Amino acid sequence: MEIGKVNYKNIYKEAANRGGWSDRKPDNTTKWGDFYNAVRKELHGTEVLLDIGTAEGNRFMGLSKYIKKGVGIDLEPDMIKLAKRNKQKAGVKNIIFKSMDADCLDFPAGTFDVITIKHSPINFKESLRVLKPGGRLFTQQVCEDDKLNLKKAFNRGQDFDKKAGTLLERYKKEAKQIGFKNIKSKVSNIPEYFKSKKNLFDFLNEAPTIPEFGKANDSEILEKFIKNNRVEKGIKSNTSRFFLEMSKE
Ligand SMILES: C[S@@+](CC[C@H](N)C(=O)[O-])C[C@H]1O[C@@H](n2cnc3c(N)ncnc32)[C@H](O)[C@@H]1O
Repeated sequence: MEIGKVNYKNIYKEAANRGGWSDRKPDNTTKWGDFYNAVRKELHGTEVLLDIGTAEGNRFMGLSKYIKKGVGIDLEPDMIKLAKRNKQKAGVKNIIFKSMDADCLDFPAGTFDVITIKHSPINFKESLRVLKPGGRLFTQQVCEDDKLNLKKAFNRGQDFDKKAGTLLERYKKEAKQIGFKNIKSKVSNIPEYFKSKKNLFDFLNEAPTIPEFGKANDSEILEKFIKNNRVEKGIKSNTSRFFLEMSKE
């Protein structure tokens, strides 16, 4: 693997061993708030919904009251084990979890009214196939200029070599080519403040933002970064996300 590149397989496995992602912090650092709350406003209680890259399932299960039935899938089997345990604890009855690859969906064509994908890769061809006519896909993804001051300080980072908007433009083009209609997007890039050095340190250890955080001079770079970016609200960085919605016909 290239130095400075993200090893997603390890990141996802480690996240599963820690108990998933949803306890890390409230996920409302965008202009539209939390992704699942934004999608919730589009639901009528009648939908069959597929959540791709569901991880430990807690955020997706927040939608259980607003849909008829749901399936959460994840490539990482340990995440699905966690999701099944979390489902039992929460007493959710209308959602099931399955270990599955987004590139090879084991569902008949036209199964779902809605697909949600948050911070997980999209296979537009498979997604279009399993949607019902008129079905909708909603996704939120991380933009290349997320945590930009951190990536600049470390002189490396997730998609640091790519222009902001690259993935959004690629996804819009792919979705259109595959046959999705009514493609709409919005971007949110707002300040984010880490409350303490520990919060920032934990984030850097757990997230793919700075690959292989902890090597060589990283602790010196981190100290300098904190000194240069400490403001009244905390240690300043930014959260940059895009939201895409589209439909089948
Ligand atoms: C960053 S986590 C996001 C979890 C959750 N959607 C959330 O926002 O809290 C990305 C998840 O996508 C899963 N994933 C990555 N590639 C996938 C694929 N091809 N098919 C299914 N799941 C995938 C990973 O295992 C991981 O659990």
